[in-house]
Amino acid sequence: MCGIVGVVGNRNATDILMQGLEKLEYRGYDSAGIFVANNNGSNLIKSVGRIADLRARIGIDVEGTAGIGHTRWATHGKPSEINAHPHQSETSRLTLVHNGVIENFAQIKDDYLSNHHLNGQTDTEIAVHLIGKFVEEDGLSVLEAFRKALHIIEGSYAFALMDAQDPNTIYVAKNKSPLLIGLGDGYNMICSDAMAMIRETNQYMEIHDKELVIVKKDSVDIQDYEGHSVERESYIAELDLSDIGKGTYPYYMLKEIDEQPTVMRKLIKAYTDDDNIVVDNAIVEAVQEADRLYIIAAGTSYHAGFAAKNMLEALTETPVELGIASEWGYNQPLLSKKPLFIFISQSGETADSRQVLVKANELGIPSLTITNVPGSTLSREASHTMLLHAGPEIAVASTKAYTAQIATLAFLAKAVGQANHNKAAEDFDLVHELAIVAQSIEATLSEKELIEEKVANLLATTRNAFYIGRGSDYYVAMEASLKLKEISYIQCEGFAAGELKHGTISLIEDGVPVLALISNNPILAAHTRGNIQEVAARGAHVLTIVDEALAKEDDDIKVMTVHPFLSPIAMVVPTQLIAYYATLQRGLDVDKPRNLAKSVTVE
Ligand code: G6P
Repeated sequence: MCGIVGVVGNRNATDILMQGLEKLEYRGYDSAGIFVANNNGSNLIKSVGRIADLRARIGIDVEGTAGIGHTRWATHGKPSEINAHPHQSETSRLTLVHNGVIENFAQIKDDYLSNHHLNGQTDTEIAVHLIGKFVEEDGLSVLEAFRKALHIIEGSYAFALMDAQDPNTIYVAKNKSPLLIGLGDGYNMICSDAMAMIRETNQYMEIHDKELVIVKKDSVDIQDYEGHSVERESYIAELDLSDIGKGTYPYYMLKEIDEQPTVMRKLIKAYTDDDNIVVDNAIVEAVQEADRLYIIAAGTSYHAGFAAKNMLEALTETPVELGIASEWGYNQPLLSKKPLFIFISQSGETADSRQVLVKANELGIPSLTITNVPGSTLSREASHTMLLHAGPEIAVASTKAYTAQIATLAFLAKAVGQANHNKAAEDFDLVHELAIVAQSIEATLSEKELIEEKVANLLATTRNAFYIGRGSDYYVAMEASLKLKEISYIQCEGFAAGELKHGTISLIEDGVPVLALISNNPILAAHTRGNIQEVAARGAHVLTIVDEALAKEDDDIKVMTVHPFLSPIAMVVPTQLIAYYATLQRGLDVDKPRNLAKSVTVE
């Protein structure tokens, strides 16, 4: 949700910023801009649209030894060149990029900036005018002015600020939005995400909330908002450069779908030792001590929580409740006496989830974050972390993270169940079963042509569609429909198959696609087949995705049978491919759907 990059030192700033922005584009792509400076002057260039549009505007004369760049996901103010970052102060001396939402921007405007001319509608422009006012009108130094402004500004932010009179310094500060320092030899960088700097450095330094950092080419000075220096160790990030490329794939999404068997095998490696399940004892104990597990997440990660709920309850013998993070924080149900909060988040940065974690920490509630990103905010701030080992996921539509989340929760459930001598857990040979899941996914991946063909008949032109299923297939239907709508823009609902007849069946008419998922047991399968008849009788165009053990000859897509606890992993893969091919056939950008961003760092 907006990406920030900055560099100062002995490098070509324009190149570094543009490469960084390309890697950060998944965070937003409404507009982009860079500001580069050296001792001879500066350049500010912005463009609506993608980074490629910005690149087309940058001439060879745009060079500098320091600069800041931004790719935007619009919050305040529509996507336009005027609202694109960087923004400048009244006299253009100061230049600022921002990720987040300033909550008291209207108040700041009234209290401090009544005589200022603002070009656009962004909260960011107000922030840079405020800092600028303290420098240009009140005579404070840039550092003093920034610090003063940070005491006034409320909300979430990662800021990077430059002063045209001192092109050798970048000032940054953060609260609730991600920002990291990258340390180089003769240069230093700042960035929203380590992945975007990994070409330049693997040495990083965290910035904590409400810290101000003065970054120069050979120094990094971290301070609290009172100006006291803070010591911070750097760390080496273990990111593989080859993981972040697309290779020969046309889209990241297809690459990430294809990586899922490998991810299953990586998870087996990460959570076993000689075939014994290895999950941190402290995590197992935290679950054992809890009388209820509360899973809090957003989007696809929320759906993964549902997919794992039955397994978690069966193996840990502890009730599991699900909460949508954006609702939970402000509408929390009555909690049990010994709750454990489990946050599922691919990015580990989702602001909605984080605000729940902040409250949980205030209340002393123990927490576990299940994330793909070590060192992410949700990981740092929770009591415990389990990693997804899925490798960077770059396509906005989440695929391999979803299946890795369910598999990781399986390791947790198995470890706790085993520790409790739960019979079902002891009988559940997770390593063997996950190996079968990997094979099942591979079998589905070998059917891409068939799936592409089925999709062409069904979804190439439709405006709406339904996924239906019962039991865990219902949970997969929720995720399958989210995947389809977020990238193909087909309005799609995931429905409990039996619930359709209680209202929504009125939407079924000639040609409406209904995609039915059938795994689980024969009784549920028979009921779902009955529901298929009901919609087919009303003209629906039905496509069936069925576990091989329950399949009939004329079913459309057959999925190799896996253990029922893990069936959401196997069943979701054809639906990922369906979303992918439907989007391709409709001529849309698979990896970067409109209006979305991968990492949503605003509430
Ligand atoms: C955004 C993304 C979704 C993702 C959700 C939660 O909405 O577009 O793909 O599922 O955030 O993200 P998280 O990183 O917390 O799993």
